[in-house]
Amino acid sequence: MAAKLAVLISGRGTNLQSIIDAVAKEDFPAEITLVISNRPKAAGLDRAAKAGIPQQVIDHKDFKTREDFDAALDETLRMAEVDYVCLAGFMRLLTPDFVNDWRGRLINIHPSLLPAFRGLHVQERTIDAGVKVAGCSVHFVSAEVDAGPIIGQAAIPVLPGENVESLTARILEQEHRLYPACIKLVVEGKARISGALVQFDSSVVTEGALLNPPALAD
Ligand code: GAR
Repeated sequence: MAAKLAVLISGRGTNLQSIIDAVAKEDFPAEITLVISNRPKAAGLDRAAKAGIPQQVIDHKDFKTREDFDAALDETLRMAEVDYVCLAGFMRLLTPDFVNDWRGRLINIHPSLLPAFRGLHVQERTIDAGVKVAGCSVHFVSAEVDAGPIIGQAAIPVLPGENVESLTARILEQEHRLYPACIKLVVEGKARISGALVQFDSSVVTEGALLNPPALAD
């Protein structure tokens, strides 16, 4: 039976869209049961509607404390009998209790090669740091912000003259490939949380390197 995913969003939902597109494929081992937004006007809600996926707004402004908000979130997810919770541009900090309760079933995507550049304004900080390789990470969520056992990463070279817009777009393109692929690994039991790390089925291990500038590869 297909695993049940909830996708949590706060904004435009392009990563949600990549998951919608992935689950539509016949061999994908999961379905999206519910899309939840903490913002009533999140554009991603239209994507859920178009795909005919049930959606719910749980507006954080309706709750006095983070604990109250997370309790409502938890109840909604349990009522929907969700197996995995995928954060896709969900810009709310979750309480340690919530994170612990969903440990191993709570996944996030972040537009950097973690543990570098956690938090906000990631692409700007990436360019300012002058790093030559950027990318994105999918990880199980732990109580710290943008941290937890890493499931997968995609790396791209930072190009000469790169600006925030171009880098954001090029990282996002990889996010859309990486997130569904990582969800598949987790749902199939090929990537499992093991303490602070993720343990992989031997079938998914590969070799290879990205060198940038490319001349370094000669
Ligand atoms: C994505 O780039 C995602 O990695 C990032 O927010 C964007 C959401 O875009 N998430 C974080 O920075 C989490 N710390 P989307 O709404 O189009 O999917």
